[in-house]
Amino acid sequence: MTVTDEELFERALAVRENAYAPYSNYRVGAAILDDTGDVHIGCNVENAAYPIGACAEASAIGAMVSKGGKTIKKMAIVGGGDKIEACTPCGGCRQAISEFADEDTVILLKDETGAVSRHRAQEMLPLAFRLKPRR
Ligand code: THU
Repeated sequence: MTVTDEELFERALAVRENAYAPYSNYRVGAAILDDTGDVHIGCNVENAAYPIGACAEASAIGAMVSKGGKTIKKMAIVGGGDKIEACTPCGGCRQAISEFADEDTVILLKDETGAVSRHRAQEMLPLAFRLKPRR
């Protein structure tokens, strides 16, 4: 069964409700469709020690990897304060996405008007750092 972009946004919006963001009051939800058709979700989880908080994208990637998922096919991201605002992944998350992306991976964003934009993960982080795994 295929998961539509709108269904992926619904999952991201729903998990955003669980965001733990008492410091920034900026809540983010992310939903990943992996290459097997499974959906994995994550929200931001802040901490009193600010730098150790987790972004929604990183949480969703952690959920995917924990369930054995390998490749992000699509990822929907929604975030904002009281309302949804244009929320683009931070630099660190772009690197994390690139680790599990391929040339077809698409990032879906929604702005404050509800307009959806689609971006290739590759375009969001040109010249991404790569390290050849050593075995
Ligand atoms: N945040 C995310 O979860 N994803 C993003 O793409 C941008 C920022 C979180 C981190 C922090 O909890 C809050 O949003 C404000 O920066």
